[in-house]
Amino acid sequence: MEFSKYRILVVGDVMLDRYYFGKVDRVSPEAPVPIVSITGEESRLGGAANVAHNIVSLGGKAILRGAVGRDLEGRELERLAAREGIQATLVKTARPTIVKARVIGGRQQIVRVDREQCALPAADERTRLENEIAPAIKDAHVIIISDYNKGLVTDSLCALLVGSQKTVIIDPKGADWNKYRGADWVTPNLKELSDVAGHPVDNDDQSIEESGREILRRHAIRRLLVTRSERGMTLLSDRETLHVPTHAQEVFDVCGAGDTVVATLALALAAGLPAIDSIRLANKAAGIVVQKTGTATLTIDELNAV
Ligand SMILES: Nc1ncnc2c1ncn2[C@@H]1O[C@H](COP(=O)(O)OP(=O)(O)OP(=O)(O)O)[C@@H](O)[C@H]1O
Ligand SMILES: [Mg+2]
Repeated sequence: MEFSKYRILVVGDVMLDRYYFGKVDRVSPEAPVPIVSITGEESRLGGAANVAHNIVSLGGKAILRGAVGRDLEGRELERLAAREGIQATLVKTARPTIVKARVIGGRQQIVRVDREQCALPAADERTRLENEIAPAIKDAHVIIISDYNKGLVTDSLCALLVGSQKTVIIDPKGADWNKYRGADWVTPNLKELSDVAGHPVDNDDQSIEESGREILRRHAIRRLLVTRSERGMTLLSDRETLHVPTHAQEVFDVCGAGDTVVATLALALAAGLPAIDSIRLANKAAGIVVQKTGTATLTIDELNAV
């Protein structure tokens, strides 16, 4: 496979993943908590920005649209995106940039500190965002909506993208799927499927088929791709039912595997692969990233090698 000709537009909740690495050698005199002496710090592209990162890592072109605050972290996100070769335009809003900071003492995560204000963007912010998105639609081969339910992915934004003539893949979050109506692909994990079904869905073929088919019909979605962690994934549509077992042999770090799935799926569809071949490739890609520690991306060479 070779993806350099394909442009994927990614729209969604961008966030900055911050890591503080250090060592613990004493307990704080202020409270019964460990003191971590920092030996290293790192910022990474998170949320929708990690989807874009996966696309460029696989050799494709990523166009990213999202929102950040007027702050250092927003600039950091822009700088990281530029360094990776992502064509990002991030609209400045009144809300601060979403940051998820992890403190890692030795090999153990000690705490995660989140900064986020989930809210609908103000009307003028929405207009500015949609004005940045509209011209990017026509150049895109495939569109991804990466919804982390932070407020950016509104009904009108979905209508703009789903209403375009392009293939749209939505990585969903939350119980309100009315806004996803008519999408070509929606890719929930088991938790996200349970949230929209309104009850816990077991990780077995039959339960997923039953709940999945109901959701397909209820929201007029063409294809539902349920990602099932160690059970791989299930594709459902009017005519298709396909269960694909995981490709992973050993698992080190499952974080971000869902982002790898949508990124690979988008590139495969852009390259003209049939749906079933595209999900097999996406499943393979996810199987590779979960076997890695740290990075949640893979290269096209790694994907071609298996
Ligand atoms: N524990 C695991 N063992 C084997 N394969 C896995 C495991 N976790 C994830 N995978 C692979 O990664 C794919 C996506 O994982 P998962 O269903 O956990 O998505 P997700 O919950 O959206 O991930 P994310 O952490 O990015 O939100 C799975 O379909 C599977 O191929
Ligand atoms: Mg996910």
